[in-house]
Amino acid sequence: MSEGKVALITGVTGQDGSYLSELLLSKGYAVYGLVRRTSQPTLGRSLINHLSENPNFHLINGDMTDQASLDNAVKEVMPDEFYNLAAQSFVPESWRSPLMTADVTGMGALRCLEAIKRNKPECRYYQAGSSEQFGEVKEIPQTEETPFHPRSPYGCAKVFAFEITRNYRESYDLFACTGILFNHESPRRGLEFVTRKITMMAARISAGFDETMSIGNVDAKRDWGYAADFVEMQWRMLQQEKPDDFVVATGETHSVKEFIDLAFSHVGMILSWHGEGVDRIAKDQNGITRVVTNPRFFRPAEVELLIGKYDKAEAALGWKPGTTFTGLVKMMVDSDVALVSEAKERGYAPPKPPE
Ligand code: NAP
Ligand code: GDD
Repeated sequence: MSEGKVALITGVTGQDGSYLSELLLSKGYAVYGLVRRTSQPTLGRSLINHLSENPNFHLINGDMTDQASLDNAVKEVMPDEFYNLAAQSFVPESWRSPLMTADVTGMGALRCLEAIKRNKPECRYYQAGSSEQFGEVKEIPQTEETPFHPRSPYGCAKVFAFEITRNYRESYDLFACTGILFNHESPRRGLEFVTRKITMMAARISAGFDETMSIGNVDAKRDWGYAADFVEMQWRMLQQEKPDDFVVATGETHSVKEFIDLAFSHVGMILSWHGEGVDRIAKDQNGITRVVTNPRFFRPAEVELLIGKYDKAEAALGWKPGTTFTGLVKMMVDSDVALVSEAKERGYAPPKPPE
């Protein structure tokens, strides 16, 4: 059914872009990924390197901050479906670079919609929305009806992108949808995000590369799913009869502390927690301190609790998450243990999360 369709993906080099490309290629799409120019070539070691030999996978240059490049990309590719996954997606960076974040993550969505409106108005558009739009949550669990109260410049930019997507749908009759996705992770997650930081540090510590991990607010709770499950829903949203917005979540919430406990126990370290606030630490069963709190990782405004209800996605599109929290944590730890042991065997330093 998808045979012969053409998709354009922004953010193709990111976690979701790589999984979505694989999914669409497996369905017979021709996939065009938008990549921005970098001063050094980076694609050779990127998450999409393995796709470079696929004759249906192509790259096209452009930047979310440049309307002309997005117009040109749409004109050149003439996509049936446009997935806007590109963003400055790291929440702490959005306080350091709020204007850039608003430009790429917020205005970038508007530029994509304009490119479609001007050049191929029948193209279906997917906007990568975020549970960060809920921020200081107004109800538990969060649904498509829950009001927004973003807590970061990133969250504010995603609210703008959500609203402008809805507005273009209503104003110009575009087939434009937003998926309000809760946190989703994988072995391809960036090392700066808390899940991958934890799994990589558990692997590094167990292999003797480090003794301790520094962390921020371990009481924060997230609804963590698996990225490969979630990109399936991005595609399904563009296959429905009428455009609409959907929450995509697992319906479970867990604290950062729970994630750490599970990840470290998977490499044989049973942690016990001591102290409060910035003095909080965790020791392993041998009394060695493995986790310390560093105020540097606390945020100016925190999103304390996220938990989504995916009933609408299940009822309308038959989607539900396939991977459990425990399965996700173990998958990520196993992958990082394998990466670290390969580095150790071959004599190079394994990747380290930014301090
Ligand atoms: P990611 O790994 O951080 O990838 C972000 C992508 O955006 C990268 O391909 C990056 O390209 C690209 N990008 C950034 N600035 C750009 C610019 N100026 N021009 C063109 N491309 C640019 O993010 P992800 O986790 O895959 O998430 C995908 C989308 O879903 C994002 O919009 C994110 O905000 C949203 N989201 C993610 C989650 C989650 O839990 N993962 C949850 C809700 C929503 P480079 O490689 O060149 O940097
Ligand atoms: N990154 C990080 N590093 N987070 C930490 C740390 C740390 O050392 N210690 C505690 N945390 C807490 C953060 O304060 C936050 O409450 C939680 O861990 C999750 O942080 P991240 O993994 O950085 O993700 P996020 O929830 O802020 O944002 C991600 O999910 C959003 C969807 O809700 C990103 O993928 C966003 O792009 C996405 O929209």
